[in-house]
Amino acid sequence: MSDKKRILSGMRATNPRLHLGNYEGALRNWVRLQGEFKVYCMVADYHALTTMAEMPPDLARNSMEVAKDFVAAGIDPDQSSVFVQSMVPEHAELHLVFSMVTGLGKLERVPTFKEKKDDLGEGRMVSYGLLGYPVLQAADILLYKPFGVPVGKDQAPHLELSREVGRSFNAAFGVDVFPEFKDIIDEDESRSKVPGLDADDQGVLRKMSKSYDNCIYLTDSPDEIASKIKGAFTTPTKMRKADPGVPEGCAVCQYLRLYSSDWQRQWEEDRAGERGCMQNKADLTEALNEFLRPFRERRSDLDDASMGAILKRGAEEARDIAAQTMREVRAAMHLMPL
Ligand code: TRP
Repeated sequence: MSDKKRILSGMRATNPRLHLGNYEGALRNWVRLQGEFKVYCMVADYHALTTMAEMPPDLARNSMEVAKDFVAAGIDPDQSSVFVQSMVPEHAELHLVFSMVTGLGKLERVPTFKEKKDDLGEGRMVSYGLLGYPVLQAADILLYKPFGVPVGKDQAPHLELSREVGRSFNAAFGVDVFPEFKDIIDEDESRSKVPGLDADDQGVLRKMSKSYDNCIYLTDSPDEIASKIKGAFTTPTKMRKADPGVPEGCAVCQYLRLYSSDWQRQWEEDRAGERGCMQNKADLTEALNEFLRPFRERRSDLDDASMGAILKRGAEEARDIAAQTMREVRAAMHLMPL
């Protein structure tokens, strides 16, 4: 077993493909932390089941494809453990234990719960599992007693609740099973909040999200990238090249900032009316395709059989740690040992 400090993070298997927002908001950090830490990269399949309305038709397929995107993004399965949540049954077990030490009021106040509940609308069933979403996430995290958890900013409330759950467990049973952990959140807003290709009805950029159909996927082909960028939102008042642009409000300029080494000059020229949107789009298409090239290469090497083997090994490595934590949990609670 590695004596490196551990990092745990996860992504929901709601969709079979990850987009640039998923990469910039979290995955980029996971890749960066490899080497210094032992990174546990989890595909959260149970978390994809928390709302019936969104239940994916083929969850196993989603899990497989998301795991492939992890590896394509640079997670090295020889250094890091890539696994699927439900393949490590200790997650479900610790979730049950944690549900006993978590107050209802606390869960009802979690902002993501309120949002999801409102999204579902009147009369729709709100599951016990949806309310318990952060309890399961606490189990995901604390099973590994990690040094830190790299996530996007939107996950901060979940991490805070996870900490409280760990403390409640320790206090309830008079033990010190679960240590504190850090959140590793990328503070660079322009990276962690990648805008989508479009704008809202006020002409303001909004986040990249499948529900808005404004995503660039890590698996998009060069042609798809070109045609998506062609249709991307730019400064609405910039009708021709000589009109001044507002790079801060232009999706194409935002991506140039992330993927073009020459973005400062490009922004200046855009602002000064010395460069047109067509030129920006052509430059971005080239830069983004260059950026995504190693993803495509790594992904084309991955078939289901090789990814399946990586996931099996990853689950075994994860279970080594998770089962040990559960032994401590059982002892602390005076449950029968297994
Ligand atoms: N809730 C996280 C998200 O929506 C996914 C997740 C599940 C997670 N379990 C986790 C993230 C544990 C970090 C640690 O992105």
